[in-house]
Amino acid sequence: MEQLLQQLETHRKDIEAYHTPGAEGAEQFRITYLGTKGLVKSLMGEMKNVPSERKKEFGQILNDFKQFTEAKYNSLKEAAENGQTAAAVDIDLTLPGDIIPVGSRHPISMMRNRIVSIFQRLGFSVAEGPEIEDDWHNFTALNLPEHHPARDMQDTFYISTDPAWLLRTHTSNIQIREMEKGRLPLRIICPGRVYRNETISARSHCFFHQVEGLYIDENVSFADLKQTLYFFVQEMYGNDVKVRFRPSYFPFTEPSAEMDISCQLCKGVGCNVCKYTGWLEILGCGMVHPKVLEHCNIDPEKYTGFAFGMGVERPALLKYGINDIRLFSENDVRFLKQFRGVV
Ligand code: PHE
Repeated sequence: MEQLLQQLETHRKDIEAYHTPGAEGAEQFRITYLGTKGLVKSLMGEMKNVPSERKKEFGQILNDFKQFTEAKYNSLKEAAENGQTAAAVDIDLTLPGDIIPVGSRHPISMMRNRIVSIFQRLGFSVAEGPEIEDDWHNFTALNLPEHHPARDMQDTFYISTDPAWLLRTHTSNIQIREMEKGRLPLRIICPGRVYRNETISARSHCFFHQVEGLYIDENVSFADLKQTLYFFVQEMYGNDVKVRFRPSYFPFTEPSAEMDISCQLCKGVGCNVCKYTGWLEILGCGMVHPKVLEHCNIDPEKYTGFAFGMGVERPALLKYGINDIRLFSENDVRFLKQFRGVV
């Protein structure tokens, strides 16, 4: 009898500590303790071994134990129904919670999104294209035939077994692909990663990001180009920004220009970022060359258009005060986590 009472005490402790959660945990508990082959049943069976003068006393203790076990079962069942663990009742709500690590957007993505969203507000829609491209879409259709000296400015990586394939040097390939679809008018903005065979340094890398734009319709003029880009820089850099266009050369635009903005760091006075000129070059642009339109079966007598292209890294370096372009692609968490909460 004494031994039985001791056993009961151990069982009581086990039951108290039982915390397997969920409906399965509750059911397991029921089978072990309250089922037909469970502990309570088998203890009832012990009754016959108890001396008759203590039967009443033991009966009461056993009854107590049964009620205690049933109460625990009910609380497990209830907790399972409410989706909590049985231990939930014991949780100290004043303890700090587990910290869930939150990522952040990459600074290049943030800058790209800023640029793209300004043009989206003007009615441009986003178009994307392949990074592994053929010679036609990256060069030839853009009026850069084989052996054209301007190809040297955009040396890239070729696939040695089949040099007809290369890593695109600009996202202008998307413009060709979109024009070839033959749906006009066309107003697209083309973000993406591009590659050039250049020495890696703090200022340049063998891959970087661009956003290019294209607008083709009847009667599109250089004035439309200027006004669109002027709107863009005001939205991007503020209303006090000044712009200037310098004549330039791209085989796929005629006339071509490069656009500078007044240096936002020194306000045009001259500093080491703008190399003491007061101006920063931010993009190339021009009117789409008639030959490019012809390559895409668009009648240059009827349609005209403008195009522009800019890098994403340079404005990101300026905006976030970063001094080495390589940081963008090293995946160093100590660098990346500094952009948590930045937009
Ligand atoms: N594709 C050019 C470059 O990567 C940029 C550009 C785009 C210039 C469109 C003019 C018009 O350098």
